Amino acid sequence: MVAINSSLPRRQFDAVVVGAGGAGMRCSLQLAQAGLKVAVLSKVFPTRSHTVAAQGGIGASLGNMSEDNWYWHMYDTIKGSDWLGDQDAIEFMCRQAPEAVYELEHFGMPFDRNADGTIYQRPFGGHTANFGEKPVQRACAAADRTGHALLHTLYQRNVAAKTHFFVEWMALDLIRNDAGDVLGVTALEMETGDIYILEAKKTILATGGAGRIWAASTNAFINTGDGLGMAARAGICLQDMEFWQFHPTGVAGAGVLITEGVRGEGGILLNKDGERFMERYAPTLKDLAPRDFVSRSMDQEIKEGRGCGPDGNYVVLKLDHLGADVINKRLPSIREIAIKFGNVDPIKEPIPVVPTIHYQMGGIPANYHGQVVTWENGEEKVVNGLYAIGECAAVSVHGANRLGTNSLLDLVIFGRAAGNHIVDSHPEKQREHQPLAKESVEASLARVNALETRTSGEKVQDVANSIRVSMQQHCGVFRTLKLLNEGVGQIDELAEQVKRISFKDKSKVFNTARVEALEVENMIEVARATIKSAANRTESRGAHALNDHPERDDENWLKHTLWHSSDGRLEYKPVHMKPLTVESFPPKARTF
Ligand code: FUM
Repeated sequence: MVAINSSLPRRQFDAVVVGAGGAGMRCSLQLAQAGLKVAVLSKVFPTRSHTVAAQGGIGASLGNMSEDNWYWHMYDTIKGSDWLGDQDAIEFMCRQAPEAVYELEHFGMPFDRNADGTIYQRPFGGHTANFGEKPVQRACAAADRTGHALLHTLYQRNVAAKTHFFVEWMALDLIRNDAGDVLGVTALEMETGDIYILEAKKTILATGGAGRIWAASTNAFINTGDGLGMAARAGICLQDMEFWQFHPTGVAGAGVLITEGVRGEGGILLNKDGERFMERYAPTLKDLAPRDFVSRSMDQEIKEGRGCGPDGNYVVLKLDHLGADVINKRLPSIREIAIKFGNVDPIKEPIPVVPTIHYQMGGIPANYHGQVVTWENGEEKVVNGLYAIGECAAVSVHGANRLGTNSLLDLVIFGRAAGNHIVDSHPEKQREHQPLAKESVEASLARVNALETRTSGEKVQDVANSIRVSMQQHCGVFRTLKLLNEGVGQIDELAEQVKRISFKDKSKVFNTARVEALEVENMIEVARATIKSAANRTESRGAHALNDHPERDDENWLKHTLWHSSDGRLEYKPVHMKPLTVESFPPKARTF
């Protein structure tokens, strides 16, 4: 039984960071180095956070391989986002990217090297020189384990900076006062089942994505949208949730990621006729067009009967022509993954691949300082005390489709920016911990308690699996209004089932099962936000490809979606079209 009583144990910190991935640990490092008392909560050991799975690189216009420029990077990011990205935030990110990467290098991150000692950079999807003229090598890589190298570097730095890690702790709910300020979180110590109040002058959500609401996903099983669930339950809207990226190359049948870096190194996609079909769809960038474009092209090939294998339901990624030396040096993990999960050795045979859910572009609305913002009476309003960074946030630098390698960049840029913003606002001097009203944690405790006291109802796993199957069937690479609306009905019904989840034999419940049940409560918030937002956007933009409305519609839809879970309301706010210092890039046709 989870111990719940009126005098829960409490701890106080200057800042509580929820999530120990790249964003969380880049932020905590900035805070701890400035002398703040920082707690980082993580459901898993920090170096097992999902950032560890990022493979191909981190984007920055270092220009180590040929001329490059942050302004070209900015243009590619805006075009990649199908003009839904906020141009102020995109300038902020692309301009600081080289400095942020050199900072990682000086932290000790083991990047691959060129013969002259500079950081090795490879081509990646949608990265171009001179505003789309030709591909450019912008992805700074540590073999095909860039996320692993990044995460270990940040963890070591945090240990040195004396960050307090709470390992195998799950944050449950935000604590807010009557004015709406965020004062910390309730949290579950997974080993004991005890619930704590963690008071914080600043709370930072860095919980990553929620790709596990789909059945086939490159995401870790921990990616259940916990921060999004916490925000939604606290009355904070979720932004642009209809935009989910399918990575073109998940291993068919297994979902494990095969980095775009394979195509960056020269790998090519083939259909059953051995045709390099991307030449037809994207004559300039070919296999290195942005991901939404490549995923749709693959899906089209499969639907039109040119898929490979006995059921014609995948295409193949050929890289044997790169030779064993390049594969072993630049793509060692890919070879291992292909052998283990695809049953092929890519030195000799192509890898069967399908588009697989990979990344959420939407999330908790935040400005480029990382502060969470809501939308009230036509204006953005900061939620005092609350920040959101990394994949759980919508800053929005990715708009309707993210460029490969901008995810790791987003983590370090906005992790650092949030850290700097908090340090600059001197939380320890600015205010003491505010008193907590008893009512501020009651809803959270009641939610956990309900799981313990319900006597009959649905099984956690059944409901979780039904959510995944429903999202997979109704919200895919190509969408139709009919499918989306059917999905809305199913997800609404599943939301009712989530409220009835109970454990059959209460004397034998493991805390891991409790955690799964709490995760499903977060997953359903994300699934509802996604399917409702998607069913309402009657255009095609970036990763939202709607057969009924195949064109982008800037006149009616150049705007961000905001979903309010509390009253089931959708509203819209304008895209920030004005960069910080440079000319804006107006929308134009998106060809590659
Ligand atoms: O393909 C990849 O290596 C993934 C990178 C990314 O999502 O940015």
